[in-house]
Amino acid sequence: MASSFQELFGHPPEVVAHAPGRVNLIGEHTDYNGGFVLPMAIPQQTHVELRRRTDRRVRAFSANKSQPGEILEFELGQESVGKSWLDYVQGVTQVLQRQGHTLSGFELRVQSEVPLGSGLSSSASLDVAILRALRQAFSLPVDDVQLALLGQKVEVDFVGAPVGVMDPMAASIASEGVALFLDTREMRFERVPLPAGLDPIVINSGVAHNHAAGDYRVRRAECERAAELLGVPQLRDLSEADLPRAEKLPEPLGRRVRHIVTENARVLATVEALRSADLPKLGTLFYASHDSQRLDYEVSVPEIDLLVGLAREDADVYGARLTGGGFGGSVVMMARAGTGAAVAARIARRYAERSGQQPAILVPQSIEH
Ligand code: GLA
Repeated sequence: MASSFQELFGHPPEVVAHAPGRVNLIGEHTDYNGGFVLPMAIPQQTHVELRRRTDRRVRAFSANKSQPGEILEFELGQESVGKSWLDYVQGVTQVLQRQGHTLSGFELRVQSEVPLGSGLSSSASLDVAILRALRQAFSLPVDDVQLALLGQKVEVDFVGAPVGVMDPMAASIASEGVALFLDTREMRFERVPLPAGLDPIVINSGVAHNHAAGDYRVRRAECERAAELLGVPQLRDLSEADLPRAEKLPEPLGRRVRHIVTENARVLATVEALRSADLPKLGTLFYASHDSQRLDYEVSVPEIDLLVGLAREDADVYGARLTGGGFGGSVVMMARAGTGAAVAARIARRYAERSGQQPAILVPQSIEH
């Protein structure tokens, strides 16, 4: 059993904060191109307990990463990247101080239910949970959108993962059962409830990714290069009418542009399909998004394709697709209402038999959890 705050630090926490992981329904790799995304919170959360200290020392424990009783420490103002989970804590304190916020040291215990490397935004949920705890403990004048932007800075400026704004926005302002339709360039958002008649499913393939490892960075650089060659500030500025021109770019840039342009259009169409409860249409958009990620953006892996293939064979599933950054991670599916638990169980079982991997069903959440 992981050590409690009381056992670790000898007194109870002053503040408790949480932030959820997210599943992106559609709109993948569009956020760093100024485009549209549609994430939703999942029930799994990161929990943070915190108590202020009178000096500038930060002492931190992770129930997921630390050995029993193992406390990592650093001094405020002396944050340095160490390639461990503590980087997220150091990133938060460095970003807050650089923005002019005053902190003292603190004790921190984190515990996450969001599986790491699963494409469900475990790191943004950690950033946002820590930021929320510090906002409360130090009465920081930061609203929820500013808090999400700070979370993105932690990843980009400190951890060195050049991610977009979707994940911290989802962790900060999304809720379960309601999709967050976000225009990442204008930072405008609307909440779109899932219609009745739909059971979302999220299955983790068991194949972990690591964004900082390079593939994500390569995709992002390809998009920036393509935008430059096409003479637009961001790929968001292109429409389907520009595709013939984009397809003349050196490979693979043309295919990358085609994914971003068609994916942005699919987000808009998905919002319409959710509003009009056109579930077959929603399913078609999900599969089209998956194929575009697989063939044009090349971010899928065989295990993920197997999960989507099993969904295609299942009469109770409207649609399925890779969710999150890719190169492993999770699949999101939409199933007929009332069938979600049974569909998820049978697809996960067949997937385990065929792949040898150990899948985990995150949504719907099982009662035993
Ligand atoms: C990761 C990043 C997001 C987004 C997705 C892909 O989750 O953190 O910003 O780019 O990949 O849609």
